[in-house]
Amino acid sequence: MAKITASVFTSHVPAIGAAMDLGKTKEDYWKPLFAGYDYSKQWMKDNKPDVIFLVYNDHATAFSLEMIPTFAIGTAAEFTPADEGWGPRPVPKVIGHPDLASHIAQSVIQQDFDLTIVNKMDVDHGLTVPLSLMCGELDPKKDAWPCPVIPFAVNVVQYPVPSGKRCFMLGQAIRKAVESYDEDLNVHIWGTGGMSHQLQGARAGLINREWDNAWLDKMIADPVGCADTPHIDYVREAGSEGIELVMWLIARGAMSDIVDGKVQGPAPIVKHRFYHVPASNTAVGHLILENA
Ligand code: DHB
Ligand code: FE
Repeated sequence: MAKITASVFTSHVPAIGAAMDLGKTKEDYWKPLFAGYDYSKQWMKDNKPDVIFLVYNDHATAFSLEMIPTFAIGTAAEFTPADEGWGPRPVPKVIGHPDLASHIAQSVIQQDFDLTIVNKMDVDHGLTVPLSLMCGELDPKKDAWPCPVIPFAVNVVQYPVPSGKRCFMLGQAIRKAVESYDEDLNVHIWGTGGMSHQLQGARAGLINREWDNAWLDKMIADPVGCADTPHIDYVREAGSEGIELVMWLIARGAMSDIVDGKVQGPAPIVKHRFYHVPASNTAVGHLILENA
């Protein structure tokens, strides 16, 4: 049986990817940010998963206003890093897991979540920056990401976007799907995006350290209550792009303490927690949880 053993949560600020690609990680501005991921890179090596189920959002790269799936699962054999205007990031291509992805699609759709099946898709900073943060700098000519990745894209760009509660329920369905896969696989689920940031309009640059940290506390200890956070709270308190945080609730809902929509098992172990301001215009949050 496949099993989800851990969840990873991290912001996916594109400037972080650019800092790595352009050799700026040792600069004073970036040093404290990357120091927050030293533990995580070692943890990845010590706890190498067989597959990463990576929840992220596409930023009008593979999708656009022409086509906006709410939940889209990548079932392809590989995914190319996207050109977001400055050429593709110099990182390895992403190898998928078509068999597990198709199984999850089958199971989750039968559990009444309508997923879009994506057999061809380029992946943008939402997916590649978390991989870079957790795996470090890799040479696309000779290195590979440590394991296959199933991209799972959520619409948090164009309203209406899914509620935190629905994301949380979807996480539970994903865990059931993974646990009904025959092969013994160690699966990690990642939630990315956030934390507080607003990229445009009168409140551009908004950061709300207190709200971010209170939300993190609640997501860890009272995930059911956290999943009830209404959209307007994210937007008002964490800025227009703070809404990306609903994606973290998919990963949180897939942890083993959640049974039938309630906290019933032992709380996950917080292996690492990090918060840093600023990276570009964004507050960066990061968490590693292991099932107890
Ligand atoms: C930026 C873009 C993002 O998608 C994000 O999650 C954070 C920051 C940016 O353009 O700075
Ligand atoms: Fe984003």
